[in-house]
Amino acid sequence: MAGLFITLEGGDGSGKSTQSDILVRWLEKAGYTVIVSREPGGTELGLELREIVLHRRGDIAPRAEALIYAADRAHNIATKVRPALLRGEIVVQDRYLDSSVAYQGAGRVLGGDEVREISLWATEGMLPDLTVLLDLHEAAGKDRLADSRTRYDRLEAEANDFHGRVRAGYLELAAAEPGRFLVLDARDTVETIAGAIRARVESLLTT
Ligand code: TYD
Repeated sequence: MAGLFITLEGGDGSGKSTQSDILVRWLEKAGYTVIVSREPGGTELGLELREIVLHRRGDIAPRAEALIYAADRAHNIATKVRPALLRGEIVVQDRYLDSSVAYQGAGRVLGGDEVREISLWATEGMLPDLTVLLDLHEAAGKDRLADSRTRYDRLEAEANDFHGRVRAGYLELAAAEPGRFLVLDARDTVETIAGAIRARVESLLTT
């Protein structure tokens, strides 16, 4: 087997980590070796970059921000994801290049295409086998976050219209690559969403 690279995408508070946990537990129970990663911050270097990009006080120029995410991504793919895939393992990752296109592109300073090109250069063209998009109407996402946390990080604190653009960006990406994306309504129950993800992963594992 050539390994399987699965990414989860969605707005802040769409339930990605819950679904990731369920998927990983199921795969491990079925006997697969699973590597879990996330961006930003899937590696040791990535944790330092994550601290800078999410929590640094003061301004980060948009191109610098895009390059920090890309640097984190380059290191994560080169040192963690690609080696695991070459060993035939399954990688389940919270966020990947689609996050950059949706978030950095949604800031309107940078074009989605150029952001994507930077990531493809950084990762030597690595694309996931499956990207699960947990699509969440922006107001619902804010409600969930307010329930679970009292403080937003730098990006979460952005205005709702930013999140609307992020959502639109994601849906555009999914429409452009329907074979790679599985789009699910994040307002469905945890079990319904988990079942849909499992069905798609099962079909990938048997082909
Ligand atoms: P994090 O707390 O890891 O994730 P989540 O919101 O999924 O619980 O926050 C990561 C933040 O970084 C999130 O607001 C999206 C943003 N981000 C980008 O803007 N560009 C990127 O390329 C990535 C990977 C994340």
